[in-house]
Amino acid sequence: MSKLLYQTELGRYFTGDSEKVLTSEVGDELQNKVQLIFTSPPFPLNTKKRYGNLNGDEYKKWIINFSEIFSDLLKEDGSIVIELGNAWEMGRPIQSLLNLETLLGFVNNPKANLRLCQEFICYNPSRLPSPAQWVTIKRIRVVDSFTHIWWMSKSDYPKADNKKVLRPYSKDMNQILKSKKYNAGKRPSAHNINKRSFITDNSGSIMPNIIELEPIKPNREVRLPSNVFSIANTQSNDFFLQACRKTGVVPHPARMPLELANFFIDFLTDPGDIILDPFAGSNTTGFCAEKLGRKWISIEIDEDLGKQSIMRFQDPSLAGE
Ligand SMILES: C[S@@+](CC[C@H](N)C(=O)[O-])C[C@H]1O[C@@H](n2cnc3c(N)ncnc32)[C@H](O)[C@@H]1O
Repeated sequence: MSKLLYQTELGRYFTGDSEKVLTSEVGDELQNKVQLIFTSPPFPLNTKKRYGNLNGDEYKKWIINFSEIFSDLLKEDGSIVIELGNAWEMGRPIQSLLNLETLLGFVNNPKANLRLCQEFICYNPSRLPSPAQWVTIKRIRVVDSFTHIWWMSKSDYPKADNKKVLRPYSKDMNQILKSKKYNAGKRPSAHNINKRSFITDNSGSIMPNIIELEPIKPNREVRLPSNVFSIANTQSNDFFLQACRKTGVVPHPARMPLELANFFIDFLTDPGDIILDPFAGSNTTGFCAEKLGRKWISIEIDEDLGKQSIMRFQDPSLAGE
């Protein structure tokens, strides 16, 4: 039913159906101990293709059932972070509400006692135009280019520290810090800017909740406002991908960017905390957790995907090289 595929100094990777694994002795051992559940579940409408025959309502029931299972595993100040893209109705140019219903199902389940701490948007400027039928063929929709990231918890005050995830100051801000001069007073937005607000150097500015993956082409013109936070999108040439190429392995098609996992791990956990990814795929979460000194548990139904993820742990950067 569940099989320990491999383990490292800080983590264990199990293969099996995560619902079954988490309601077995693996789950018993984790009750009230997990600081962060960080995961990108299988996509609603693609589910049908590979994992049984879940249609919309079955998918909803299946995924929402995890709200209670996850809640029981979390520490009181723990967090659940779920990444889900937009889904589209099969054969129609309209968006499915299944992902939003999933969120509502999680926070409305009284047995899970979860709330939405904050939503993040992860914008990927390099995403291919999709859904192709409506965007590039019929030209009646625009490119669907972001995923939702929902941060939930059992308490209004889960462990979190935005000082651990500061982004570098902009050129303008560095200039202000140097000159100690800027226009104080009333802004068109009606905010009153204090004379001293901007002259304290806090080593970086506070993150917004829109995260932009850096474009794969480095000299692409940046079109988003400069206050959006760009994170490196190293996926197209990281150690794991190179290792897959060398060994002729087809890499997991829906890998999560390493920097996205790093961001939430830094923001919501400390070294030694336990992080769980119940839909682990190529184990981006476990790898980032190991690198940042956190314990991890990963679960994946497809053993071949589990096997390929072992290559991540041969990355010399894990040994600080
Ligand atoms: C979007 S992918 C996750 C990718 C992962 N974050 C990464 O970076 O590689 C979702 C994964 O969930 C797995 N999955 C689907 N149903 C599952 C189940 N019932 N139990 C465990 N894993 C499952 C799929 O095989 C797939 O690898």
